[in-house]
Amino acid sequence: MGERVARRTLGISAFYVMELLRRAKELEAQGRDIIHMEIGEPDFATPQNVVDAGVKHVLTGAVKYTPAAGLTELREKIAWFYRQRYGVTVPVRRIFVTPGATGAFLLALGASLNPGEEVLMSDPCYPCNGNFVRLFDGIARTLPADAVSHYQLTAALIRQHWSKASKGALIASPSNPTGTIIPRDELKQVIQAVNALGGCFYSDEIYHGLVYGDTATTALEFSDNVFVINSFSKYFGMTGWRIGWLIVPDEFIEATEKLAQNIFIATSSDAQHAALAAFDESTLAELEMRRREFEVRRDFLYDALVGLGFDIPFKPEGAFYIYANASKFTDDSYRFAMDLLEAEGVAVTPGKDFGTHNAHLTLRFAYTTSIDRMAVAVERLQRFINAR
Ligand SMILES: Cc1ncc(COP(=O)(O)O)c(C=O)c1O
Repeated sequence: MGERVARRTLGISAFYVMELLRRAKELEAQGRDIIHMEIGEPDFATPQNVVDAGVKHVLTGAVKYTPAAGLTELREKIAWFYRQRYGVTVPVRRIFVTPGATGAFLLALGASLNPGEEVLMSDPCYPCNGNFVRLFDGIARTLPADAVSHYQLTAALIRQHWSKASKGALIASPSNPTGTIIPRDELKQVIQAVNALGGCFYSDEIYHGLVYGDTATTALEFSDNVFVINSFSKYFGMTGWRIGWLIVPDEFIEATEKLAQNIFIATSSDAQHAALAAFDESTLAELEMRRREFEVRRDFLYDALVGLGFDIPFKPEGAFYIYANASKFTDDSYRFAMDLLEAEGVAVTPGKDFGTHNAHLTLRFAYTTSIDRMAVAVERLQRFINAR
């Protein structure tokens, strides 16, 4: 009998943390108190005026397809956001509204990647990136990245590993799982290196609003020849609405438009109408308060984990994750995470969800829960470590 399930799915990995989540749910059903620090989404609700704008649209009943690239008004607001926040002018024709950053990645890679072509990315990185590449029968070429380079690709690494098969390089800054930012000058050099090699550069800027030092730099500051992936999910607190955006180089507009028409027809129109309120002054003011709260949480958790003996080479500058080396306590961080859940009801994500490089030693802690809850988690961690 022939293969009924497509071969390409064999190379696509499931999340290891799902097993942990399944067990966490079981324990919760038994009445155990579980502190969730594995979750990669803000605990804050969608800002109220964003919700109101979405609901108002739904109540009209005219919930129809929009143009494939998205509502013109929303694309114009995104262009305004780039002018206002980064001082960068992006023509509306290059902006596509997508079903999340995920939809943006599917369009960007669908429009640019041929079978057998490689995309360079750091290890550790967000696991779906490699899987998107595999979905298009490309090759995800992961390059081990350490704290020295902020766990990010460097121009030198890209030049060293570039081969005939290489099509492009992908970065996420701030990164998931490390929360680190590629320094501005390195970003410029990375983009220049990829452009000089004739490749495509994909910049995942989904965590841009959530930075705790200098503002993050958009790849668009250095070149128009880049794909920028962004989303309303994290900073704007809209994970479940499924809406994001993609900015493409001019030469990819037509291909991207065709793919958007065929794959999605359009992004959900209620999400798009809701997102029209995401750039209102009052929404942005609320998001700024949330950003500050995340910063306080980061400082709390960083100090606490370092105090417990986790090795965190430097304080992450963005997102809501701390990527900690647990080698002082274990050489199997997956087992450590499972045992921690079982013994103390604290859920964290094992490093092996993000790659292979030192993954058996690392854990990702998400500070997507309150300081009070994290304080309890730290006490439990201390007890767990003491008992080992
Ligand atoms: C780095 C990174 N890129 C993309 C995504 C996908 O985001 P979206 O919800 O916008 O599809 C995530 C979600 O966790 C992420 O961490």
